Amino acid sequence: MRIAVYGSGGREHALVSAFVSHGHEVIAFPGNPGIAGVAAISPGPFEDIDADLFVIGPEAPLVDGLADVLRGQGKLVVGPGKDGAQLEGSKAWMKEILKSAKIPTASFRTFTEPAKAIEHLNSYDGPYVVKTDGLAAGKGVLVTRNREEAIQDVIEKLNGHAFGSAGTTVVIEEAMEGPELSLLVLCDGTKGVALSPAQDFKRIYDGDQGPNTGGMGAFSPVPNVGKELVDQILSESVDPLIKEFNKRGIDYRGVLYAGLMLTKDGPKIVEFNIRFGDPETQVVIPRVKNDLAQLLFELASGDLKTEPEFISESMVTVVIAAEGYPLSPRVGAVITGAEDVMGDGVQVFHAGTRRSSSGDLVVGGGRVLNVTAKGKDLKSARGLAYESVSLVSFEKMQYRRDIALNASELSGF
Ligand code: AMP
Ligand code: GLY
Repeated sequence: MRIAVYGSGGREHALVSAFVSHGHEVIAFPGNPGIAGVAAISPGPFEDIDADLFVIGPEAPLVDGLADVLRGQGKLVVGPGKDGAQLEGSKAWMKEILKSAKIPTASFRTFTEPAKAIEHLNSYDGPYVVKTDGLAAGKGVLVTRNREEAIQDVIEKLNGHAFGSAGTTVVIEEAMEGPELSLLVLCDGTKGVALSPAQDFKRIYDGDQGPNTGGMGAFSPVPNVGKELVDQILSESVDPLIKEFNKRGIDYRGVLYAGLMLTKDGPKIVEFNIRFGDPETQVVIPRVKNDLAQLLFELASGDLKTEPEFISESMVTVVIAAEGYPLSPRVGAVITGAEDVMGDGVQVFHAGTRRSSSGDLVVGGGRVLNVTAKGKDLKSARGLAYESVSLVSFEKMQYRRDIALNASELSGF
């Protein structure tokens, strides 16, 4: 098959690698130096590529309607149209849809006026969860016990300083507690089929400290999360969402990313995203035994028949980020060692990298590289991942030391 892939992150590098490993031809746009090592890069526009299947990685082009444009040209596409993409494009819309479909999630209120939002924050003791309504690359959520900090955050979001027009509506939610889980679900418009679960690390520093990021590492599978729990999530949260979409005339063909919290009262939805997770894809997709292109071709055709199967080995990915990420990443530092790491059981997916005019690999974005390792269990995958991270170097690189460290202790929910 000839497959066009839109995107330039570690997620797209992992998808492209999976397609190439099954003998498919890939044309990526805009790609990155890692993707350029295994596939052709198109100068764009993406709509002009001639391919059998179109896979859109990031949320922004989906929210802007790229899938509709491609489908309008009769192309087979993985990714929802503008209608279904609102699920990630507006947290307020997502919460409304979860409410109508009776999907377990945190209770919430939506505000556009600072005075009303502040009055609400003053009415309870916290913790406080304040979310930007629109797209914010995973960085629009504040969770805090400090009321003053929550009030300040609401003011900055609502006056447009923090996230521009994406922030001028906020959602304030009940705080949930428990381990988090990411479940990527393949949805062909009428049914959802889960891939193997993963866990992501959202905060920048060890011990879940510091601001939220797009994700600093991930692992799969997740101990104690078996078929029974996945089936419960599908029946309580995913199937009702697809039914609600169908009721509203939305034909959702793409990946549904369910972000969950495993609370004492059962799994609850933190958010739905409209695409493969990043960095979850880097640990979930290399564990898929099937030809991913075949699964996605069936999905895009509206009839997913093949059952996904997974290798028993574990995968761990560690995100290496630029100095200053997530607030203001510094680009330009020269990266060494990334090419030396590749080997048995280790892959380095490129995210924010680029080539300098002299041909050096340099930092080009916030999340730079995803060092991804396979092992017979999480402990050995983790050992190999960190051993490999130590071979990579650039000025002031940062990464978490505790990815998958306490994975086996994930219980008590
Ligand atoms: P989101 O972008 O909505 O996934 O939120 C980013 C992160 O903020 C989540 O992965 C959680 O760690 C945290 N978070 C979001 N909503 C809540 C909530 N209602 N209660 C507690 N933590 C939350
Ligand atoms: N890793 C979180 C996300 O992809 O949204």
